[in-house]
Amino acid sequence: MNAVIPTGAARSIGSILIESGRLSSADADRISEHQQQHGLQFGDAAIALKLLTKEDIDYALAKQFDYAYLNNQDSSLSSQLVAAYKPFSRIGESLRAVRSQLMLRWLNADAAHKVIAVVSAGKGEGRSFIAANLAIVFAQQGQRTLLLDADLRAAPTSGQHSLFKLGKSTGLSGILADRAGLEVALPVPSLPGLTVLPVGAVPPNPQELLGRPEFGQLLGKASQQFDVIVIDTPAGGDFADAEIIAARAGAALVVARKNQSLMPDVALFARRLQAGGVTLVGSVLNDG
Ligand SMILES: Nc1ncnc2c1ncn2[C@@H]1O[C@H](COP(=O)(O)OP(=O)(O)OP(=O)(O)O)[C@@H](O)[C@H]1O
Ligand SMILES: [Mg+2]
Repeated sequence: MNAVIPTGAARSIGSILIESGRLSSADADRISEHQQQHGLQFGDAAIALKLLTKEDIDYALAKQFDYAYLNNQDSSLSSQLVAAYKPFSRIGESLRAVRSQLMLRWLNADAAHKVIAVVSAGKGEGRSFIAANLAIVFAQQGQRTLLLDADLRAAPTSGQHSLFKLGKSTGLSGILADRAGLEVALPVPSLPGLTVLPVGAVPPNPQELLGRPEFGQLLGKASQQFDVIVIDTPAGGDFADAEIIAARAGAALVVARKNQSLMPDVALFARRLQAGGVTLVGSVLNDG
């Protein structure tokens, strides 16, 4: 028997879930009946009958509104990209709040403001995690977003390379060495609007490369092609790279990790950034 899924939104939610294999036609029929008998929304009727979960409904709604969202079976990206896999989670909510703050304080304040460096004083505080997920929520908002991995200190297969499961690729180091251009940045097919520029081969002289005019030129070019550029950086306490990058970006989002970051280190690092002319446009206490 074919599914009878009546009115407007309900029809598309039901058919989205049938198409994605989350719902059988027979169960869709039962939901429709229950919905009509009790005057419920399709989703509420489905949950009442325990035929679908809230997660299924969120998934369908996201699809219906054309919101880039991956289901759990899709393993093309790392599951740490929670903004893509669980956009309605607490972290998803927090990321959208950070996005609003950055729009208000920086991106919307001046047409020339496009770049934000995600920085922190210490290692392993979540810079890569936050930069990646923040770039995803910008792309979900319909902004052409470039996630630029500028952690030239990390192994080239860690950081954004591993979060987005990228293959062997030329990246930032190749561009700074004048061996490639911005065309080596990789669009993420499952997340329309998002492009990732991996770090590329690890160079022997990261700080010198970042100080070259090529880095500024790259950001200038990227600013013409993208609405937002989010930069992942190495730990600020170890090298001057993060300060150089943030100074070029003009703005920084400072990350600290709960029960890990030492406040005096964070304060000292923030002062160094400000002394370098960087606008601190927000801070995140990462409690994950
Ligand atoms: N809010 C969070 N929720 C869950 N896991 C998190 C969260 N923040 C960070 N992590 C995890 O903690 C680990 C370290 O985070 P991440 O690599 O983003 O930090 P980093 O500051 O970029 O580190 P590095 O100094 O190595 O570049 C990763 O495995 C990451 O997925
Ligand atoms: Mg990192």
